[in-house]
Amino acid sequence: MRVLALLDGTQADPDSPLIRVDDLGLMRGDGVFETILVVDGKPRELGPHLDRLARSAAMLDLPDPDRAGFERAVDVVLGNWTGGREIALKLVMTRGVEGGDGTPTAFALGMDISPKVLTQRAEGLAAVTLDRGIEPGLMERAPWLLLSAKSLSYAVNMAALREAERRGASEVVFTTSSGSVLEGPTSTVVVARGRTLTTPPSELGILPGTTQAALFRAASRAGWQVEVAPIEVDELYVADAVVLASSVRKLTRVHTLDGKSLPDSTAVHAELAGLYESEY
Ligand SMILES: Cc1ncc(COP(=O)(O)O)c(C=O)c1O
Repeated sequence: MRVLALLDGTQADPDSPLIRVDDLGLMRGDGVFETILVVDGKPRELGPHLDRLARSAAMLDLPDPDRAGFERAVDVVLGNWTGGREIALKLVMTRGVEGGDGTPTAFALGMDISPKVLTQRAEGLAAVTLDRGIEPGLMERAPWLLLSAKSLSYAVNMAALREAERRGASEVVFTTSSGSVLEGPTSTVVVARGRTLTTPPSELGILPGTTQAALFRAASRAGWQVEVAPIEVDELYVADAVVLASSVRKLTRVHTLDGKSLPDSTAVHAELAGLYESEY
């Protein structure tokens, strides 16, 4: 099922054309987006997602997103959803049409969650490490690369996922050229060691994750140490759990990395998944 809403609060038919062919979001991937998990009609981390949409838009020199308009569109999607308990809710804003007056194209689209994601949530997955060509300091040195913005230009991320498939895996852990862990193409990497959770710093040029932030809130309340610090690939092989965190996938366990089995993380993953759910 899909429900589409515009920022003026009107609903649109997701099967009918809506975007002009000269929209810069389509022509150049020039825009920003968010994907939000909705459970039982309640969007998770809506505020942080809207904040991050505004941050990404600022990085792309786009107008400030119409927050009230997006909230209105979200309400319309939720109010008209008659599908399952969970929704993947996408908020999209592009630079509008080429040569136009700069009015953004914007909408909210509610979709079912893909069965593949549901299987991976339950069973975990195999990942490969792939070089992202990012070195420490690049984000400040070259802001035009838009590292850590959630822009619509995800072709590289999708190509990395296809490379993972070619290597017999289903996910990717991006690394710097020198072997420091970055993030997944659509997820944050979180590592558990003892009672400590670690995620790499967003200053490396990666997206600050709302799911990771929610997990860290819950975990630190439950007595875990949480830290933002560099992680080397070698450390993943000896961690108690390696988890890919993102809104729709929630926390997905990595059981195999570059063809090698990781230590069994079933129990730690179950504990972390419980902590994350306790936030809601
Ligand atoms: C590159 C990247 N990193 C991390 C994440 C995880 O972010 P969140 O937990 O806010 O969904 C995403 C989400 O899709 C992403 O695209």
